[in-house]
This record gives sequence, C-alpha cells and structure tokens, in this order.
Amino acid sequence: MWKIPRLEVKAASAVVDVDLIPVFQDGGKKVVPQDGPYRALLERFRKGEGFGARSGQTEFVRFGGQGSSENVLFVGLGQASELTEEKLRQAGAHAWTRLCAEKCPSAAIHLDALLDLPVEGAAADPLLRVRAFAEGLLLGAYRFPKHKSKEAAAASAKTPASLVFVSRKKAIKPKLECDLARVQAVVECVNVARDWSNEPSNIGTPAYFAREAQRLARQFGLKCKVLGEAEAARQKMGLFLGVGQGSAREGKIVVLEYLPRNPARTVAFVGKGITFDSGGISIKPATRMEEMKHDMTGAATVFGATLLAARLKSPNRVVCVMGFTENMPSGDALQPGNVLRSRNGKTVEIINTDAEGRLILADLLDYAQELKPDVCVDAATLTGAIGVALGKHCCGLFSNDDGLEEALGRASRSTGERLWSMPLYDEYFEDMRSETADMKNSCNDSYGGAIRGAIFLKQFVRKGLPWAHLDIATVASNVSHIPYFPKRGASGAIVRTLAQFALDY
Ligand code: BES
Ligand code: MN
Ligand code: ZN
Repeated sequence: MWKIPRLEVKAASAVVDVDLIPVFQDGGKKVVPQDGPYRALLERFRKGEGFGARSGQTEFVRFGGQGSSENVLFVGLGQASELTEEKLRQAGAHAWTRLCAEKCPSAAIHLDALLDLPVEGAAADPLLRVRAFAEGLLLGAYRFPKHKSKEAAAASAKTPASLVFVSRKKAIKPKLECDLARVQAVVECVNVARDWSNEPSNIGTPAYFAREAQRLARQFGLKCKVLGEAEAARQKMGLFLGVGQGSAREGKIVVLEYLPRNPARTVAFVGKGITFDSGGISIKPATRMEEMKHDMTGAATVFGATLLAARLKSPNRVVCVMGFTENMPSGDALQPGNVLRSRNGKTVEIINTDAEGRLILADLLDYAQELKPDVCVDAATLTGAIGVALGKHCCGLFSNDDGLEEALGRASRSTGERLWSMPLYDEYFEDMRSETADMKNSCNDSYGGAIRGAIFLKQFVRKGLPWAHLDIATVASNVSHIPYFPKRGASGAIVRTLAQFALDY
C-alpha cells in the first residue's frame, strides 16, 4: 500500500522546509499568523504580483533564497464567501502537487486562517474545512509504484514524508487530532480500492482479492467468508459460473460483514469484480483493452466503503458481497445463444458475452438479499454507454426508491462525488425479452445501453427492497479533471460516498 505522510498537530511552527499558508482573495489580514515571522514576509510578498489567490492557484516563495528554510507556499482559495468543502479538497491536492514539485520533505500547514474565517453555507464548519483540505492533500498524494523497479520506486517516493498541522488554538488540538486520524482512515480505505483496481490481472486474480479481503477483514475486525466455484454451484449461481467458465482461474465470491452492537439497519453492498474483461467470445478490440484490468473496480469500491464504514464505527450493520471472476474466451467459454439459469430461477439468453457484469451481479444481488438487508446498493463498471450519456463528470445512479436516491444524493454532496439520477422505466425491459429464455443479456442496437444494464439488474431485486445501482464505468479510472484523483489509473471515486451513506442511512 502507498504510504501516506505522517500527520501531526502542533501549536507552533516546528522546523520545517516550508510553511503552507491558505490565502483568500478578500485580503490577507485574517489569514496570516499574527505573531509569526510570516506577517512581514507576506507583506513583502503582497507588494509583488502574479499570485491572485484564486481557487487552485499556488505560489511558492523562497524568501531566504535557495536552500533556506524560509519558504512559504501560498495556497489560493478564492473568495471566502464562495468557499466549499470541494474547493478545499481540490486546493489540498494542488498544494501537495506543489510541495512535490518544489521537493519539500516536510511542511507546516497553518490552519488558523481556515479556522477563523466566517463562512456560511457549504463550508460553515471550521473543522470540516480543515478535514476537507487535509483529505484532498492526502488523496492527491497517492501513487502506485508497486510494479516499478526499485530505482523508479525510490524516485517516485521523493515526496513530503511529514506534515505538521499548526494552530494556535490549543483547545481544539484533541478534536483536530481525532479529525486528522479520521482523514487518514478515509484515505487509507480509498487507497485500498485504488490499489486493488490498479493491480494487473495476472496478479490481481480472484484468489488474490479473496486473500486480500480476508487479510484486511481480519485486521479491522470484520467477518469474511469466501465461496469458491463448488460452493457457487451449490448456490445455483449459474450466471456467475457461466461468465467465468472460459477462464483458467477459479472465481471467488467474497462476503463481508461488519456487525456493530445493536445495529440500527442493515446496508448491503454488491460489487462487480471482473478481474479482466476481454469480452469473452464477443471479444473486445485490442485498443485500450489493458484498461479492462479495472473491471473489478465496483468490488474494490464497495470493499473500501465497507472497510471505511467499519473503521468509522457505523451504527448500521454492513454486508458486502463481491464476485470476482474473469471474462475470457476459450474452448470452454460461454457462447452467444447459450442459455443460463440464475440463482433466482430466471433464465437468460446470452446475446453478447461482453455484457457479463450484469450476469454476475444478478446472482450476487440475489445472494445478498438472503442476508436480510434493509437497503441494497451495487457498484459496477457496467457499461461504456454511461459515459456516452453522462461523460466523466458524474456517475450514473439508478434506483427503485426515492428515499434511497435522496440519501445517496446527500452522501454524495458531502463528499463532492457527483451522482446523477437515470431513468428505470419498466418499458426499457421490453427490449430485453428473449424468444428462447426469460430475458436476454443485451440488445443489438445501442439505445440506452446503461439503462438496459440497470433494468436487467432490476429483474433480480425482490419486491419492496430499496435498491440502487451505480454505474461507475467512467468515473472509476482516468479521471484527469479532479486534482485529488490520479490523472491515469484508478480514481477511488465513490468509496467515500458509499461509506458516508452506510454511516447515515
Ligand atoms: N466492463 C465493460 C464496461 C466498460 C466499458 C467499463 C468501458 C469501462 C470502460 C462491460 O462489461 C461491457 O463490456 N459492457 C458492454 C455492454 C454491451 C455489450 C451491451 C458495453 O458497454 O459495450
Ligand atoms: Mn464486458
Ligand atoms: Zn465488464
């Protein structure tokens, strides 16, 4: 796992390479530590020009010249009246990028400007402001050097190892320490999901994720059960087994449970864990097929969220069902025209073996419903079509329940991870009827592809259960426009939102 920098809270600036000072556009008076050496420095600096403290802007100043520790990194936050937690997260990530670019081994982050500022609305809580800034900073620090040679890994490790959070308000130190520990837990869980998603499929096999899940579950006190293919067969999970039948690697279903004392409700998460999606016999084009190692990101996302909900001591019981298997062409592979029987008895005609995610999810959803959930949310890199519909700036949300949609919306607004509601009219299922079986897994035209995936899943949700499906295909990786997500590879998106949802539902 990527080692995140050590965090510390101090009352006064220790000896560090750089003092990081947040600056608002409305003038610097409030933001400069009044009795520190930086008042004069900022005064000198303000006489210069260039840096306008716009949101996302940073300015690095070596007041004492090269090699001096009298360095200041000003981080712009825009107009104070327009401040949001998401702007703070993004500013945190910009700050990290600049600290790395300037090769700073350590930094002191002066918080009093953030804490003192009177702000209304989206960023009203001073400690939440600090949390958001720290979260963006640490989320932005992620790298995946695991498979680089030693030298390359060492080079990419030349980043700040220690961050000191400085405030003169001694009274808030305990709360601040507690909040930063929370941020650390959040980022660690997002990074687990990122690491899983980035893992190449020759290492990130179903058995690998089952082992990793068991190891991390043990570490954080969750129950974890692994079902192999024999057990899946006993469970009559014909769709899950059908997808994996062309692979040399055995599929695994991983079931996690976090059980607090006197749980309020039970939240079930279900995740798509296709460790590699070649398309199967309906094989994908070669271009960018390597990105299909990320096709298990739904499972990684619900795993990270479950771990985080447990670490943040959710009042709700959380169960998490992940199906790991590989979609490969071979002499044993599933063929177009085949008919499979699902765990709930419905039969499916396979039109396109590349529409495999919905097949495994159908069996996993049916299994999850045996675990007595009050609500069920699945996450999956299900369709390319969700990107056609929504682009990369939000993730598709499909639900049969307004209250659940609202609850997910609330969670997403607190994390800055956008969800957009998509339709689930039953008429969409008309296209999915089969002559031979109860339904088919895809259609031959490309209308409403993401909705068809979702309406297929809905056939496996029992009456009365609030359920939501998140199509994360385009937000799971290569999200280059969010500064705290890596430009390439796994983003870790939606982990924080699902954990927040599990805490609040
Ligand atoms: N894993 C893919 C969806 C995907 C595409 C994720 C691009 C990330 C980036 C999924 O299994 C798939 O292949 N879906 C097909 C469905 C179609 C055959 C009905 C698709 O989107 O083309
Ligand atoms: Mn596919
Ligand atoms: Zn897939």
